[in-house]
Amino acid sequence: MVVPRVQAAIAQAFGEEFRDTDPVVRPSQFADIQINAAMAIAKKVGLPPRDAAARIVEALELDGLCTGVEISGPGFINLTFDGTWIEELLNAQASQPQGGPETPAQRVVVDYSSPNVAKEMHVGHLRTTVVGDSLVRVLEALGHTVIRQNHIGDWGTPFGMLIEHWLEIGEDSPEAALLVEDPSAFYQAARAKFDGDADFATRARLRVVSLQSAHEETLEVWQRLVDHSKVYFNAIYATLGVSLEDDHIAGESSYDPHLAQLCQELEERGLARISEGALCTFPAGFTGRDGEPLPLIIRKSDGGYGYATTDLATIRYRVQELHADRILYVVGAPQNVHLRMVFESAREAGWLPDSVEATHVQIGNVLGEDGKILKSRSGTPVKLMALLDEAVDRARAVVDASRPELPEEERAVTARQVGIGAVKYADLSTGHDTEYVFDFDRMLALSGNTGPYVQYAAARIRSILRKAGEAEASTTAGAAAGEPAAGSPAEGVPAAGAAAGARIAVVEPAERALALHLLEYGATLRRVGELLEPHRLCAYLFELSQLFTAFYDQCPVLKADESVRQSRLALCAVVLHRLSEGLDLLGIETPENM
Ligand code: ARG
Repeated sequence: MVVPRVQAAIAQAFGEEFRDTDPVVRPSQFADIQINAAMAIAKKVGLPPRDAAARIVEALELDGLCTGVEISGPGFINLTFDGTWIEELLNAQASQPQGGPETPAQRVVVDYSSPNVAKEMHVGHLRTTVVGDSLVRVLEALGHTVIRQNHIGDWGTPFGMLIEHWLEIGEDSPEAALLVEDPSAFYQAARAKFDGDADFATRARLRVVSLQSAHEETLEVWQRLVDHSKVYFNAIYATLGVSLEDDHIAGESSYDPHLAQLCQELEERGLARISEGALCTFPAGFTGRDGEPLPLIIRKSDGGYGYATTDLATIRYRVQELHADRILYVVGAPQNVHLRMVFESAREAGWLPDSVEATHVQIGNVLGEDGKILKSRSGTPVKLMALLDEAVDRARAVVDASRPELPEEERAVTARQVGIGAVKYADLSTGHDTEYVFDFDRMLALSGNTGPYVQYAAARIRSILRKAGEAEASTTAGAAAGEPAAGSPAEGVPAAGAAAGARIAVVEPAERALALHLLEYGATLRRVGELLEPHRLCAYLFELSQLFTAFYDQCPVLKADESVRQSRLALCAVVLHRLSEGLDLLGIETPENM
């Protein structure tokens, strides 16, 4: 609401180069909000901070929005809004979907999840999956066209050994079932044969050749192997409630037919040259320790293609065939140099025009309590499914203890929503590029910036609205079938009665703080879409939950006089709507009861 106006004022006062400066808008003790940016700007432009603040105030277009504008202390700008204005806006927004891009809608290709066939999805994949899925949801809510791309690792030399192993054990054997139940074990078994049995290793190598020359039977077996792995991926996606489907898979194999030509073209155009037997590009700006240009190997000396070659092909495909305006690679942080080199090579080849933005959304590591990459006790990679099951089991214990009166079936559903929600929220609420420690107790806590805390706030409102609906139904029983809040903002809420449509009056300080925060929702979403940072949405929802709790402590709802009651119920309904919509954009469900 206010942020874009403050940004415009800063740009007007100090020049366009300051437009993207964070205006540092914070709640204020003495007014509705304070703007803290003047101090930092003052330092940059060499002005006394209060003078810098005065310039911002002068340029600030508030046309009747504020009843008080004040510069205080070292250069804080305190704004007090006009109560009528807050009410008008809130009531107008209550009935409208938020989002809607300020910039024209774009076609955004999002590469995320991207696990590897016949391998366990590790917690790193959990994170690219969860963060990527939240980003696609937010970008869609902002009106962009999103194209999901699951770049699975389904090609390369290990497939010779995997196929041979598969043929040897037979499709219907228990070992083959491992591909779905314990992919690491399947891989390890194949690997052990490869390392210990020279004949097998020879056959595996020959199998690579026949796979690469598209030998029909080999391709068929390969396809079956990939299909089994998809069953495993899809089981994880279903458990997580992730929006990826088979149609979104465009694995490494799908680019293979284009790699030879791609290399040839780069070589002919003088963009790639042979270095120590391998064909390499040398993207500008990348040098090794010795100061020499860093090579990006696109064809190995044995003629094979690698990860870089496929990734160059992804860019060309996404720009030329998918017509992307923006491409996001939601991929582990350690792959940053690789991706930046690929982007630069693609720019130099003209496959990534300046008009298309390519971004590596860096995903930080998930650590165990020992501060090292999360591993199971025995040191093997953690099984993702077991981890998710444990989250649900733990949540189940909490729900059983706190809500024993709920039907068994509902407790099971709630436990799933809370357990999975907690894992996803913990992932999303940390900056995606920072590491975090996987800690069940912390993520499942009912206090602090956690999934369960936000879910609890929403479930609590659902219960308030249900009670209001029941009270209303009993008083209006027999009367014109008490309109069941159709099309009300609080979807799925039984008869919040007229409340959902009632006009909200913003009177008490707690109502005012809540209202002001609600008004920031649209701007928050746009910021998340721009900066690709779901943790900002978590922070927003956490604060909304806290402000709601404060409001509910200070302002009676069900027991208030009729007109106040209607207004406060309507306010509750808007908060619920934003909470459940926000959670949904994080890919998290809102329990009915908690
Ligand atoms: N399969 C890769 C891995 O597990 C991730 C692929 C990411 N996407 C890409 N276009 N490189 O590390």
